[in-house]
Amino acid sequence: MPPDAAAGGAPREIMIKTLRYRPDVDSKPAWQTYRVPFTEDMSVLQGLQYIKDHLDGTLSFRWSCRMAICGSCGMMIGGEPKLACMSVLRDYYPGELVIEPLAHFPIERDLVVTVGEFVKKIESIYPYLIPKTARRLDEGEYLQTPLQLARYETFSDCINCMLCYAACPQFGENPDFIGPGAMALLQRYNGDSRDGGEEKRMALVHTENGAWSCTAVGYCSEVCPKQVDPANAVNQNKTRSALDYFLRFLGRSVDVRSAPPGGGAP
Ligand code: FES
Repeated sequence: MPPDAAAGGAPREIMIKTLRYRPDVDSKPAWQTYRVPFTEDMSVLQGLQYIKDHLDGTLSFRWSCRMAICGSCGMMIGGEPKLACMSVLRDYYPGELVIEPLAHFPIERDLVVTVGEFVKKIESIYPYLIPKTARRLDEGEYLQTPLQLARYETFSDCINCMLCYAACPQFGENPDFIGPGAMALLQRYNGDSRDGGEEKRMALVHTENGAWSCTAVGYCSEVCPKQVDPANAVNQNKTRSALDYFLRFLGRSVDVRSAPPGGGAP
């Protein structure tokens, strides 16, 4: 969409410096700068789309919903992990806006990163309800109280944008670390009163690359665009993991879903 003075005020110009890497022609990543006219209401994603439509059709980046739902436009904007559709160009004016691909992920092309390993992590945590008790169709829905919903609802807001991984120094050091996003999703299902798959998922939490690899920096929760608070999910899993360890000595088990919302220990 070309900037239109009638849509949001008189256009100004901002310099957008992006990291470029096209593996078919480039031996290594390099910077390229574009002069982009913008109006007050233009997002960073719209700035990139202006470049693609009017200045350089070879620039590659991911996007879909343009409204912070699909999670595909995550990138480093001004050095911070952000969604391009939720960031506005005016916040970076009059300085030069620097855009890079998400930190800690291999670059596939320009601002597009490789997500295959992230998807494997998500798949590994059994990201679906494993019914505790099977019900016949004629028995109706699996009912849940508002309090039971509150125990995991925050974690269900994750859009898999991977900003928390770009913010996580431990993931930067150790790409095998399961990471904050997968841990939040794991907690979404473990905290669900209808689910019976906790034992399978806790086997992952206890491993070397599970919850205990987290060094508790907490930046993952700061950058989360949906306030999912993955650091809280990791902490709940650490608490649960420690509890499991001690309860094993006592030959007992405990249901964390009796814990208050947001808390770790029952
Ligand atoms: Fe979907 Fe930004 S385009 S989250």
